[in-house]
Amino acid sequence: MLDIARIRAETPGTEHVIHFNNAGASLMPASVCHIMQTYLADESKFGGYEMEDKYACDYDKVYQLLAQLINCKSKEIAITDSATTAWDRAFYALPFRKGDKILTSITEYASNYIAYLQMMKRIGVSIEVIPNDRNGQICVEALEKMIDENVKLISVSHIPTNGGLVNPVEAIGTIARKYNVWYLIDACQSIGQVPIDVQQIGCDMLSASGRKFLRGPRGTGFLFMSEKMLKFLEPFCLDLHSAEWKSQNEYEFRKDARMFEISECNIAAKLGLTYAVQNTLDLGIEHIWQRIQQLGELFRKKLSMIDCVLVQDLGQIKCGIVTFTVEIDGMDMVKLCKQLRERKINTSVAVRHHTLIDMTARNLNHMIRASIHYFNTEEEIDTFCRILQDLIHTSVFM
Ligand SMILES: Cc1ncc(COP(=O)(O)O)c(C=O)c1O
Repeated sequence: MLDIARIRAETPGTEHVIHFNNAGASLMPASVCHIMQTYLADESKFGGYEMEDKYACDYDKVYQLLAQLINCKSKEIAITDSATTAWDRAFYALPFRKGDKILTSITEYASNYIAYLQMMKRIGVSIEVIPNDRNGQICVEALEKMIDENVKLISVSHIPTNGGLVNPVEAIGTIARKYNVWYLIDACQSIGQVPIDVQQIGCDMLSASGRKFLRGPRGTGFLFMSEKMLKFLEPFCLDLHSAEWKSQNEYEFRKDARMFEISECNIAAKLGLTYAVQNTLDLGIEHIWQRIQQLGELFRKKLSMIDCVLVQDLGQIKCGIVTFTVEIDGMDMVKLCKQLRERKINTSVAVRHHTLIDMTARNLNHMIRASIHYFNTEEEIDTFCRILQDLIHTSVFM
């Protein structure tokens, strides 16, 4: 379905590395790099504001393209400089009161959980963590039992930072709608990897990153803010882009999700993101997801055949984020990641404090996170497993 040879030819990075760090930042397609380089060259020659005007038709498409990708209206999209900025802008706009409850996932990302804690300290909300089911994903039945009149927000990660698990966001959406609870999804690791339809999921807000599975540049992200929420939410900070100064004592918000943006932004990055989203749409997110699942399954199977390697991914449906540990006394995952990098293989290390509740419950400190994308190949997986096996062997006999 996907022409992998062509896709790799259009991904210069594949000539230099085995890139299994797509959950960190993916390799950008040549078209994404090219438009940013062209723009920056023009900007340096002709001026920032002048080129912003000239290229406006190009990067303005990003709203409509993202809306197409997640099935919403373009006025429900705001562009940000990271997934965290997008998430924060939604979360800190919510009008919490003392006694309100936030329900979240065991695998919640540190930045999000820290924000809940701050809200707890500042306002007196409480945080409750939804247990997992026996597959290791959010237990929807347990979630329903936790709902009471104080629950104001369900806030979960679609795919956690530290594993292959895909949470059942649609079933959670059914509960959120049934009990009329705000529903915020962290789709940082799922956008560009898994098909996302915000109507079908029934979420009110969703944050995502540009640099990961969308293959956009670093310093990009976006927020989906539903029309329903736009009617009553107020951003926690405003500027002359998010609001208009009407008179000495008056201002008026924008009416669309761009009220969660600020005036200044990196136009080159926005252009790069536009091209990256177009690339995802052209390839087809269903094809991408199918290929990732196939490669992920193969990868986990091959890894589990290596002595002392323990694949750590949970969940009924698994994605392209593959995590594992090497069960040998003294084996250091940080060092192993470094050794792989010296051999031109990019991975990363999932550390305890990024998903503290989950890692503590599973008694894990570090895991290797080898995250694949559709442009990776079966041959790369074989090479990876062979090199990993050699490194383990060498470390045992050293
Ligand atoms: C699940 C999850 N949420 C949020 C983030 C934060 O994204 P960003 O670094 O774009 O702010 C990450 C980053 O890796 C993540 O994995």
